[in-house]
Amino acid sequence: MTVRIAVFASGAGSNLEALLAHFRPTTPARAAAAVVSLVVSNRPSAGALAIAARHEIATAVLPDSNDGRAIRALLDHHGIGLVALAGYLKRIPAEVTEAYRGRAMNVHPALLPAFGGPGMYGAHVHRAVLAAGVRVTGVTVHFVDAVYDHGPIIAQWPVPVGGEDTAASLAARVLRVEHALYPRAVQAVVEQRVVLGNEGRVRGSVFDVQQAAVFSLDGEEVACR
Ligand code: GRF
Repeated sequence: MTVRIAVFASGAGSNLEALLAHFRPTTPARAAAAVVSLVVSNRPSAGALAIAARHEIATAVLPDSNDGRAIRALLDHHGIGLVALAGYLKRIPAEVTEAYRGRAMNVHPALLPAFGGPGMYGAHVHRAVLAAGVRVTGVTVHFVDAVYDHGPIIAQWPVPVGGEDTAASLAARVLRVEHALYPRAVQAVVEQRVVLGNEGRVRGSVFDVQQAAVFSLDGEEVACR
């Protein structure tokens, strides 16, 4: 049965676009697995809502992002089987994360648990990475619980940090990896190749760990193979 996905976004929506491209009906196997059926935002001006409208996907703006009961009713009304946060800047109420345990995901532009938590979003993350002087950052996809950037990790991918990087150049490189990693991770959860066990451990893997993970030494390209 095709899983109906609700994407929550507060910003431009490039991760939403990556998910739409990945599950586009022109790729039958993927389209059979899942479809983005609803885009939710806390901001009426979010670019993601305009993207959804262009694709004739239902949208909703939350009057109160803390109202778990209303959010659950919205998701139930749309028959949502999976919640995918993509640049959503509000906490998801516990009533929702509990109802969607193992079926709510988020993408974060750093290698959690480092550089995560309240206030760690957008350029703040990349400025903290540069300030820390680390030479590898990356992308984390994780299950969502009631704490910011805290749920069990589904997948991560490294992104090299260059000596001349600015927060903007680093954000752009990380975002390209997000667009490659997140749809693959959503597909793996939809197909139940990755599941959240009752004990809280993530079982399965997005990638066959025997496969080579390649990124070139000049740091400009990352190949998810
Ligand atoms: C991404 O960097 C994502 O990691 C973070 O918010 C940003 C969303 O960007 N959670 P976009 O709105 O998908 O372009």
